[in-house]
Amino acid sequence: MTGPKKLYVRTFGCQMNVYDSERMSEALGADGYVRTDDIEDAELVVLNTCHIREKAADKVYSDLGRIDQIKRQREAAGQEMTIAVTGCVAQAEGKEIIARAPQVGLVVGPQSYHRLPDLVRRARAGAQVVDTEFPEEDKFAHLPARTVGADATGKIQPAGPAAAFLTVQEGCDKFCTFCVVPYTRGMEMSRPVAAIESEARRLVARGVRELTLLGQNVNGYHGDGPDGPPCSLAGLIAQLARIDGLERLRYMTSHPRDMTDDLIEAHGSIDKLMPYLHLPFQAGSDRILAGMNRKHTADDYLRIIARVRQARPDIALSTDIIVGFPGETEAEFEATLDVVRAVRFAQAYSFKYSPRPGTPAASLDRQVAPEVAAERLERLQLLLADQQASFNAGCIGKVFPVLFEKPGRNAGQLIGRSPYLQSVHADATPDLLGRILPVEISGAGFRSLAGVVRAA
Ligand code: 5AD
Ligand code: SF4
Repeated sequence: MTGPKKLYVRTFGCQMNVYDSERMSEALGADGYVRTDDIEDAELVVLNTCHIREKAADKVYSDLGRIDQIKRQREAAGQEMTIAVTGCVAQAEGKEIIARAPQVGLVVGPQSYHRLPDLVRRARAGAQVVDTEFPEEDKFAHLPARTVGADATGKIQPAGPAAAFLTVQEGCDKFCTFCVVPYTRGMEMSRPVAAIESEARRLVARGVRELTLLGQNVNGYHGDGPDGPPCSLAGLIAQLARIDGLERLRYMTSHPRDMTDDLIEAHGSIDKLMPYLHLPFQAGSDRILAGMNRKHTADDYLRIIARVRQARPDIALSTDIIVGFPGETEAEFEATLDVVRAVRFAQAYSFKYSPRPGTPAASLDRQVAPEVAAERLERLQLLLADQQASFNAGCIGKVFPVLFEKPGRNAGQLIGRSPYLQSVHADATPDLLGRILPVEISGAGFRSLAGVVRAA
């Protein structure tokens, strides 16, 4: 074979999939693969999929149809292409994927990524391979360590990205009745503090200044501590905050039930912990919350928010909300609007309920008509957009420390992040990439801010 093997990765869904795609690319990089942005050039295509809502899962099959065309063209020209489906659709549907899309050579669930290079070799030798086990061994301990100074393709690069994700916890034991996560990602598992710290240090050595600690239920984190006993998320954050060169820490996604006192206090006492909290509440009606098995009421949620704000008054709040859960009445939907009005979110994600096969809510009676759910979603999103716009407008005139992460659309511009996770566009030279500088906010849109760099 001439030249390196080309790998094309397409990532759907959440930040954990973004992180997993990086780790898979690194594992395949150690096996001679180099990433390409041109799918037509790829010997190996990885679709890292999401199963959280029907629309996300459907996208995989429409993509597979298009990729099959490219695979046929390559084969007509005497070139190979192996298609791998990874992620939560792989876990949920397993060999059904190959039955529906026989062009797929390899189906791998999220717990088996450390076996990927070997599985790819078997698929390329002509086998159709399905691995959706929840193996005994810890995949993180078997994935190659993250190399210093190299990017996901294994190439040494002068400065890595300034912000990165780091998975610290995976899976969920909460069993919200609408959610596939406990089935696709399995039971809660926390990585040991020492393994996370060593990965964090390697990332910092690559130029990372900001880390977002990821987990489906990240504030339920309880990994083995450095001295043995389990460590909470607050303890982990305190430990990582000691790393020189690491300037900012964030975490997501959290559950209200696991918003412990020490974590709330950490927002007031750890400077490197950014003033931003993503805390889903899903619905404002206690009857619906009970039907969702959320294990909290609307009032519990509001009380947690009040305590978080006491610890860190300027904190920006974000959430996830579902409309049209089975049986939701107009009054119950309005209770959701009431919570939104009471909290005032800086930003939020909102979804129409989507029945997922195998989850308890999918078989409930009284599914809400799609047009009713669509109308509720529209009203909710108008309110949320209004809150987001006013949060952003309130930033005009303030000076924020901004971490510059990437070039802007216009030459001479960079895009960075404020402490509140807003994108900030400013005129700045490329040498400022990876640095945190004061920026005076001069303009605010719905999605981003504009500002002027002030002398540090
Ligand atoms: N339908 C709609 N939204 C869902 N979510 C999870 N499962 C579903 C579903 N079946 C949303 C929740 C969760 C976010 C990641 O996705 O709001 O917090
Ligand atoms: Fe799904 Fe989150 Fe509920 Fe866990 S806590 S079941 S990941 S919605």
